Amino acid sequence: MERLIIHGGKPLYGTIRVHGAKNAVLPIMAASLLAEEGVSMLDEVPYLQDVKTMKEVLLSLGVKIEEGDRWVLDSRELTSVEAPYELIGQMRASFLVMGPLLARMGKVKLSFPGGCAIGNRPIDQHLKGFEALGAKIRYEQGYIEAECPKLIGTSIYLDIPSVGATENIMMAACLARGETVIENAAEEPEITDLANFLNGMGAKIRGAGTDTIRIEGVSHLHGTVHTVIPDRIEAGTYMVAFAITEGEGFIEGVIAAHLTPVIAKLREMGVYVSEEERGIHVVGTQKLKPVDIKTLPYPGFPTDMQAQFMALLTKAAGTSVLTETIFENRFMHVPELVRMGAKIRTDGRTAIVEKSELVGAMVQATDLRAGAALILAGLAATGTTEIGQLHHIDRGYVSIESTLKSLGAEIERKSWSEPEGDGSPQRGHHLFIPAPSIARATLK
Ligand code: EPZ
Repeated sequence: MERLIIHGGKPLYGTIRVHGAKNAVLPIMAASLLAEEGVSMLDEVPYLQDVKTMKEVLLSLGVKIEEGDRWVLDSRELTSVEAPYELIGQMRASFLVMGPLLARMGKVKLSFPGGCAIGNRPIDQHLKGFEALGAKIRYEQGYIEAECPKLIGTSIYLDIPSVGATENIMMAACLARGETVIENAAEEPEITDLANFLNGMGAKIRGAGTDTIRIEGVSHLHGTVHTVIPDRIEAGTYMVAFAITEGEGFIEGVIAAHLTPVIAKLREMGVYVSEEERGIHVVGTQKLKPVDIKTLPYPGFPTDMQAQFMALLTKAAGTSVLTETIFENRFMHVPELVRMGAKIRTDGRTAIVEKSELVGAMVQATDLRAGAALILAGLAATGTTEIGQLHHIDRGYVSIESTLKSLGAEIERKSWSEPEGDGSPQRGHHLFIPAPSIARATLK
C-alpha cells in the first residue's frame, strides 16, 4: 500500500511544464481505431494510469501500439469488437471506443460502464446519439450491443452538453452517410482537439468548440500525426498549489485561454496571475479573499477544479459558497478536508467554506480531483498529512510528488505492506458515509 507523506507550510517556488491533456488523449486514442490506412502518431501523450488502461483496451481490439516520446498506433487490422469487461469497469473513458467501433466495424459489444465516486455517470445521451444514427441497441447481462451496417447522418440534440457523448457521437458520425449535426454539444477544448485529430485523419468536422458541430461523413479515415493539447486541469492544480502555499511559480506550456474562469477566480481572491507568451505566472498572497464559485459546462468554471478550489478557499478570510452543478456527488473530499480542520458545511450540491486553520491528518483520496485537493491542503497545513488510496491520483497526474518536491515541497511517497489484521478497519481507514452527513455531524 502506498501513502503520500507531506510536511506542510513550505511555500512553493519554481517552474513546471504541463503534460498533454488526459481528457484529450483518451478520446484521441479511441479515435485512432477509425484509421483503416496508415498509422497515427501522437506527441505529448501523458504517461498516466488512465492512458495505460486505454492502451490495454486498444490492444485487446487488435491495435498495435509503440510507446515512446511519440506514440504510434496501428489500427489497420482490428481483431475484436468487444472491449474487456474489467477494463471498462476500471476506467469509464474506455466507453469512448463505442463510437469508433460502431462506425468502422458496424458492431460493438461493451459492458455498461460503472458509475464512480462522483456520480452514477449515465450514458443515455451516448446511446440516444447512436440510435439516432441508426444503430440497433440490445442490453443483456450488463452488456450493451450496438449494430448497424452503415450509420446514417442526422440531427441530434443533446439534453445535456455531455463531453463524452459529444465525443462518442462525433467519432461515430465521421463514417456515417451524409451530414450529422450535434446540437447543444459540449464545448470543452478537448473536443476541439479531438476534432482536429479526426480532421487530420480525413474527417470533415466543423464547429467543434461551439454548441453546434457539423460532421460530413466520409468513406474512410487514415492515420495522422497529432500533438495533444496541454492539460488545463493539471495546470490549474499547480496554479492553486502556488497560491495555497503563498509561493510563486510559472506554469509553462499551458494555453491561458483554456483557463479563463480559473484565472478570473484566482484574481478575484487576490492572487496575482499574469498570462505570458510561454505560460502563466502566479504569485500567492497572505490575504486571500472569499469568492463564490459555480461549476458549469465549458466555458464556465470547470467541475474538475472544484475540489482544488475548495482547499484554497479554506484560507480565504471569510465565507465562500461553492455550487457543483455537473456531478451529483462531487463533495467526497469534504469529510477528508474536515478531518484536517476545514470548516465546510454541505447541503446538497452547495458547500459553504469558512476560513480554517488546516492541520495535518491521515486522509484518503476518494477520486482523482479529491486526491489533488488533499495534497494541496496538506501543502498548506501545519504538521504532517498522510494520504492513502493514491491510485486515484495516479490516474490523472504524472509523478505529482516529484514535481512538487522540485518546487520545494516536503513530500514523499512511502509504500509498505498491508498490516495483517482481523479485517477490522485499520488506523486511517474509515467507512465513507456520503459527505453531507459527515460534514454536518462533525460541525454540530
Ligand atoms: C468528462 O467526463 C471528463 N472525463 C471528466 O473529467 C469531466 O469532469 C467531465 O467531462 C465534465 O467536464 C474525460 O473527459 C475522460 P459528461 P464525462 O458526460 O464525459 C451527465 C476528471 O477528473 N450525463 O460531460 O463522463 C453526467 O452524469 C474527469 O478528469 C448524463 O446524464 O462527463 C454528468 O452529470 C472526472 N448522460 C454530466 O452529464 C450521459 O449520457 C456531465 O457528464 C452523459 C452524461
